[in-house]
Amino acid sequence: MTTAYDTLKAREQAAICQSYGRYPLAVARARGSRLYDPDGREYVDLLAGIAVTSLGHSNPELLAVITEEAGRLIHVSNLFTQEPQIRLAEALLATFGPGRAFFCNSGAEANEAAFKLARKAQRSVFGREAYTILTLEGSFHGRTLATVAATGQHKFKEGFEPMPAGFASVPAGDVKALERAMDQSTAAVMVEIVQGEGGVKPLPGEYLSAVEKLCRENGVLFMVDEVQTGLCRTGRFWAHQRYGLSPDVMTTAKALANGLPMGAMLAKENVAAAFTPGTHASTFGGGGLVSAVAAKVVEIMRRDRLDERAERLGQWAKGLFRDIGARLPGSIEEVRGFGLMLGIVLTNPGKEVWQALFDRGFICNLTQDRVLRLLPALTIDEADLSAFAAALEDILRRKAKG
Ligand SMILES: Cc1ncc(COP(=O)(O)O)c(C=O)c1O
Repeated sequence: MTTAYDTLKAREQAAICQSYGRYPLAVARARGSRLYDPDGREYVDLLAGIAVTSLGHSNPELLAVITEEAGRLIHVSNLFTQEPQIRLAEALLATFGPGRAFFCNSGAEANEAAFKLARKAQRSVFGREAYTILTLEGSFHGRTLATVAATGQHKFKEGFEPMPAGFASVPAGDVKALERAMDQSTAAVMVEIVQGEGGVKPLPGEYLSAVEKLCRENGVLFMVDEVQTGLCRTGRFWAHQRYGLSPDVMTTAKALANGLPMGAMLAKENVAAAFTPGTHASTFGGGGLVSAVAAKVVEIMRRDRLDERAERLGQWAKGLFRDIGARLPGSIEEVRGFGLMLGIVLTNPGKEVWQALFDRGFICNLTQDRVLRLLPALTIDEADLSAFAAALEDILRRKAKG
């Protein structure tokens, strides 16, 4: 029998570039932490669009802003001053510190802005002919050519060479390796606080502090990619705040407008000064509608202390998963991450476990072959996380019995 999904899949294969490895599910609608397929089957969403819909799907407060703003002003271009863009910048800077914001439409674009700003600031503000951006092995910074060049994983570059010049990666966690790689040409170092795509790998706080110190000593800009970790995801408003770091430049995107395309780069005042009129731009970046929605997202996150909720729920969920590992030795190697950015590292390749969870109606992500990555809405109910843990334990127990 041909299902609604089969029909859609055939049309998709005939019409869409096949660059995505998709899950075997078409989503017709979504609400809170639930997804529904075209036949009305319900799934518990523990992925939230890969850390995007942090306030849940179809959030009523955001729907109200979308409706109101769409009727007022959707787009006029950055040739004009727009109040919602200013309001959003002020709200973000209140969480980051004094500086300036640049708005764009995605994480990759936010990182592109950061790379361009780093080169420009080194030349025009600090008088250094420095252009190389150093990143860490295992990192992920996006899919444009420059961000692929910056990404410290070979698989994303394959087939797309030659890479743009001026990017290099060093082993994560090795201060000496970074020290050796830094030279007169180094403009900036960019790090993730928790490597998301790389397998939910938190970097040690002492290491990150040492990276920042090394940057300061060498006139190199310290930049943090908070595209995935930012906006309360890891139990702090920004993940770098866990370690008291003070990045010169920070990028964010994903959850910023809860699913509308939106990215931002924040930079300290002296660095941001390098972006003079005409040096960088985006047609859609910071448009009235998305900015108003993003400003509301930031307001709700601060009002409802979603950083604290993520921290509390994350600690509790980590305990649940670690208990499973203790009851079923040999099944779970490690549970890692912060807040509601969690990785359950299975002992063996996880495809079958992922599939069994999917068959039971739980959506999570499998990354780096063995890591079940959970990035649920920050508003998710405890009951959903408990139900996921019970399903996972049952699946692992059955698997152990063979
Ligand atoms: C840390 C990090 N940086 C950059 C990106 C790229 O963001 P986008 O897909 O919005 O371009 C991602 C996306 O997963 C990410 O996790």
